[in-house]
Amino acid sequence: MSTINRKISTLDEFTIQQLRDFPHATGELSRLLRDIGLAAKRINVEVNKAGLVDILGDYGTVNVQGEDVKKLDIFANNQFMGVLRHGISCAGIGSEEMDDFVIFDDEISNHSKYVVLFDPLDGSGNIDVNVSIGTIFSVFPRISPKGQPCTREDFLQPGKKQVAAGYIIYGSSTMMVYATRRGVNGFTLDQSIGEFCLSHPDIKCPESGRIYSVNHGNFFQYEEGTRNYIDTCQKKDKTNGGPYTQRYIGSMVADVHRNLIKGGIFMYPGTTDKPKGKLRLLYECNPFAFITEVAGGKATDGRQRILDVQPTELHQRSPFFVGSRSMMEELEHHWQAVK
Ligand code: AHG
Ligand code: MN
Ligand code: MN
Repeated sequence: MSTINRKISTLDEFTIQQLRDFPHATGELSRLLRDIGLAAKRINVEVNKAGLVDILGDYGTVNVQGEDVKKLDIFANNQFMGVLRHGISCAGIGSEEMDDFVIFDDEISNHSKYVVLFDPLDGSGNIDVNVSIGTIFSVFPRISPKGQPCTREDFLQPGKKQVAAGYIIYGSSTMMVYATRRGVNGFTLDQSIGEFCLSHPDIKCPESGRIYSVNHGNFFQYEEGTRNYIDTCQKKDKTNGGPYTQRYIGSMVADVHRNLIKGGIFMYPGTTDKPKGKLRLLYECNPFAFITEVAGGKATDGRQRILDVQPTELHQRSPFFVGSRSMMEELEHHWQAVK
């Protein structure tokens, strides 16, 4: 007979426990995280059978950014939108896969506290080749008055206003990691019971590391300071904290997750072709900047702290540099040197 291990807390138990310290909390954030966990479990099932069923391949449409949309992108988007619409905590959403934000204009949602922005499937170019992919989410308290539909301003807040952010990684195991101001915690999906269980409590980003993650193919299109830093990474040896290792999966969720646990730096700089790079401020940079800062690391766009950037449009892109504090400082030093 199996016994229940009381030492393991599930995602639900954990978020409820955290609430106990806040007698005035309404529990809406816990419910929101539970809803997100549910969508994640459903997406996980589909991701796992991606090789078996006809769910792979292009959907035949192009998203607002002009990129091919895969079937699983649409599935994941719809799962997220569905659970958030039917839950009681979310007044509206913005998604990488939709042209505009969606306001859930109904009696319950108009009284909800939060809006959520998400990238339903990150690294979707990797689905066909069985490489880890993920989902990224960002939670803001609405600034529009409760009792009315939420507004555009609720979605265009600087990242420092986030109350929570997280990601799900569909990898060799499936994990959900989320941050609030109180800390970053990781939960691994126990497939046998269908629950996310706390496996990585209080994640801290190591002060330094030996991994740098960047698309080397674009090297000659990066700015001088960034190129100099990458050169330095390649020249590190035992005398100065090296040797470094270059790791770049092409699924940012997987790359940043690994660096968060092991220590490292992830860069998606602007290029001469695309001065703002590829990544989206609201769905990719903001949530990872928040998670990394709570864990003790740093995130910038090369000019300012990501979390201070005032967004002007929903789908805006941004160069992105994120990771261990001392590695970020060394990168910044190289930028200063060529100013
Ligand atoms: P998405 O699949 O949501 O469009 O994002 C993919 C992103 C990110 O996950 C990854 O780091 C980056 O694209 C890789 O881009 P390059 O192939 O240009 O390096
Ligand atoms: Mn993405
Ligand atoms: Mn995506």
